[in-house]
Amino acid sequence: MPEQEDGKALLAAALAARENAYAPYSGFKVGAAVLDEHGCIHAGANVENAAYPVGQCAEASAIGSLVSCGGTKIKAVAVVASGPELCTPCGACRQRIREFGDENTPVFVASLDGVPHRFSLAELLPSSFGPRNLT
Ligand code: THU
Repeated sequence: MPEQEDGKALLAAALAARENAYAPYSGFKVGAAVLDEHGCIHAGANVENAAYPVGQCAEASAIGSLVSCGGTKIKAVAVVASGPELCTPCGACRQRIREFGDENTPVFVASLDGVPHRFSLAELLPSSFGPRNLT
């Protein structure tokens, strides 16, 4: 993904996936999308569960789709949710993104009507532990 890319297509995919979120317990719908190394976009939504801890974040859904479709790298991420605060990925999802991305992977975060914010993964997860640590 070029540096100047604004994440528009990814954000649109995340917004569309958010519509299908299953969030009857929190009422907080989240959509995410990840771009793989082939240029394919994989979107996902949060999937909650009556057994609360079993619920899955939107980012995890999107990454599951990327892997299932043969992707091995995350080139960029988008997350969309409502609310006054930007829905930056939770700690566990930052680590999930780290597995397939790198320090420079852009993470675009947007509310439903505001201006998207671009973070790097290093900003969200500094001094991260990743696959290279195990080599
Ligand atoms: N959620 C996500 O899907 N992604 C995040 O990064 C933060 C939180 C979901 C989990 C739960 O279904 C709802 O938002 C409220 O926490």
